[in-house]
Amino acid sequence: MSTVLSLLGSPSIRSRSAALLGELEQRLAAGPGGPRAVARLVLRELPADALLRGDASERGIAAAVGAVAEAQLLLVATPIYKAAYSGLLKAFLDLLPQDALRGKTVLPLATGGSIAHLLALDYALKPVLSALGARDILDPVYATDAQIPRHETLGYSASPEVVARIDSALVRLQPRLAATWAARDVRWSV
Ligand SMILES: Cc1cc2nc3c(=O)[nH]c(=O)nc-3n(C[C@H](O)[C@H](O)[C@H](O)COP(=O)(O)O)c2cc1C
Repeated sequence: MSTVLSLLGSPSIRSRSAALLGELEQRLAAGPGGPRAVARLVLRELPADALLRGDASERGIAAAVGAVAEAQLLLVATPIYKAAYSGLLKAFLDLLPQDALRGKTVLPLATGGSIAHLLALDYALKPVLSALGARDILDPVYATDAQIPRHETLGYSASPEVVARIDSALVRLQPRLAATWAARDVRWSV
């Protein structure tokens, strides 16, 4: 069971929102819970037919829904598509039980072609997270494509200003994680 579960909502194999998410995951994996405390659910790898039919009984979908139930903290990463979040992410969120996010902390992350649709997270994603029971929704981390440029070997790399946003998100996450890890007798030593 992982304390932190990432949901990656981009349909793209080479993905800027994945790169953004990876920056945060790396830092969390270096924390007291170690790499096993952080798991990633790549939504485009779920069985597409079952996802589109809303078949929550399919084995892969059921395992993914179960992983959400077990996590304490969810990192929800998406590209901005047509002034909202991705349809892939919506298809998965639609499969979750009504109260699936109650008692959990959720941190949204997104990348978009420009800053113009930053508010899509507030008017589109947050209401859905709230409808699923989430009450502890942290300020999103948003980056434009220009802030996550292509990198010769890494695919994409986050600019220093984006890294600074990730670091401040980590500061907001630490007290929540510390509370969870305290129960397991591990401490954050930063
Ligand atoms: C179908 C589609 C629709 C998009 N719509 C928007 C949009 O409305 N606003 C925006 O800022 N960027 C939009 N973009 C750009 C993506 O949000 C942006 O390139 C993002 O970083 C892609 O993330 P990914 O590489 O993780 O898939 C769109 C891209 C695609 C492919």
